[in-house]
Amino acid sequence: MGIQKKIRKAVFPVAGLGTRFLPATKAVPKEMLTVVDKPVIQYVVDEAAEAGVEHFVFVTGRGKAVIEDYFDIQFELEQTLKARNKNAELTLLSGILPKAGTASFTRQQEPLGLGHAVWCARDIVGDEPFALLLPDMIMRGEKGCMKGMVELYDKAGGNIIAVEECHPDQAHKYGIVGVGEALDGGFRITQMVEKPAKGTAPSNFFINGRYILQPEIFEILETQERGAGNEIQLTDGMLKLAGKQDFAGYHFKGETYDCGAKDGFILANVAFALERADIRPSVEDQLKAMVAALK
Ligand code: G1P
Repeated sequence: MGIQKKIRKAVFPVAGLGTRFLPATKAVPKEMLTVVDKPVIQYVVDEAAEAGVEHFVFVTGRGKAVIEDYFDIQFELEQTLKARNKNAELTLLSGILPKAGTASFTRQQEPLGLGHAVWCARDIVGDEPFALLLPDMIMRGEKGCMKGMVELYDKAGGNIIAVEECHPDQAHKYGIVGVGEALDGGFRITQMVEKPAKGTAPSNFFINGRYILQPEIFEILETQERGAGNEIQLTDGMLKLAGKQDFAGYHFKGETYDCGAKDGFILANVAFALERADIRPSVEDQLKAMVAALK
């Protein structure tokens, strides 16, 4: 453990409209779609909790109230489960309930971009470094991505961005970083660009949606102009902060599923189902048969 301030809070921007999942997301937030039997947001909250986060800050929007209900007690349901002696289900529900006072919700009133969504959390986060997890991405690895980042942060301090390698053809879909000198457990970030035009990316290392940021990012985001896609981009704000503070890249080595895209969401369901002893045998057998029958 170094001398860094502990990462106590994590921000989850969950205001996105989820247009890629219409019609499902007409009435259900995309973060509540299920991977096996847990909503996507639960995987991301679990990753933050594994990394030692104590307070969970959700930046929501219209139509997202069900996320707040999900992280609360469901009184009638619990009474019914008690009356029926459904103890396993009760234990499961109490295991996912955040401790009283450790979940905060604020709304992004207009969809102005990720940078603006993060800025909306400024008063709740206050003057301390924080974790930021984009709930589209869920990950599998021996160690959670955020846990590995906190370990690097404890040694290096500053700001940390998790990255993974992508095919050069895919770089225009992401934020991309430039790779500098190696650090113990990571590397110095020399450049950042959001959604680079084809053929202009500084590397194949894309930002995978996990960040540890210093609170000075909020002052920068307050006046950040619109960038790629005419949105207020977090990447542009981080590039400005990189002029004053260190940014390190953490190369995450597990598997990442982009649940904001249909194929990633389906693959996440398959991958997590295959990890489950209760359903793996039947899923595996039927998957093999389906693949064998493909022409
Ligand atoms: C956001 C970030 C981008 C990052 C991506 C990861 O983009 O702006 O830098 O690479 O998440 O999913 P979005 O997916 O919101 O367009």
